[in-house]
Amino acid sequence: MRVNFTVNGRPQEADDVWEGESLLYVLRERLGLPGSKNACEQGECGSCTVRLDGVPVCACLVAAGQAEGREVVTVEGLAGRSGAAEGELSVVQRAFVDAGAVQCGFCTPGLLVAADDLLERVPQPSDADIREALSGNLCRCTGYEKILDAVRLAAARTGEAG
Ligand code: FES
Ligand code: FES
Repeated sequence: MRVNFTVNGRPQEADDVWEGESLLYVLRERLGLPGSKNACEQGECGSCTVRLDGVPVCACLVAAGQAEGREVVTVEGLAGRSGAAEGELSVVQRAFVDAGAVQCGFCTPGLLVAADDLLERVPQPSDADIREALSGNLCRCTGYEKILDAVRLAAARTGEAG
C-alpha cells in the first residue's frame, strides 16, 4: 500500500507499506526520521510521540495507513518553531538543554513533542498541567524534576517574548 501524508510541513509518500506497519516504522525506516524513538512499541513509554493533525499520539500504535492524507509533526519539525529561526532550536528544545533535562536522551524527543503541544494549548501551564501533559512519557534518568523545570522555563521565556 502507498501512504501519502505530510510530515513536518512537507508532502511525503511511502511505498510498499505492509498492512499493520506502524507510523513509527515508516518515519524511522522509510523516511529517514529517527528522532522519534522506539523503546517499548506498546504505547507505554511515549518515546515515539508525534503529533497527528496536531494531537500527540504514540506513533508505535498508529498504523501507517491511518496517517493517509494527514499531517504529522515529529521532533525533527520542532526546530524553527515558536519564533525560532529556521534550523534553530525551538524555545522548548532550548529550555530542555538549559535546564539540564536531557541525560541519555532517549525519552527526550517524545517529551519535547508533548511539551510543545502543551505550551501551544496552555502557554502558562500550572505544574498540574505539565504533569498531566507529560504523564504518558517515561524517563528513567532524570527523576522528572528537571523536565518540569524545563517546561516552566520554556513557558516563562514564551511569556517574556510575548
Ligand atoms: S515506543 Fe511507542 S510508546 Fe513506547
Ligand atoms: S533522559 Fe534517559 S530516559 Fe529520560
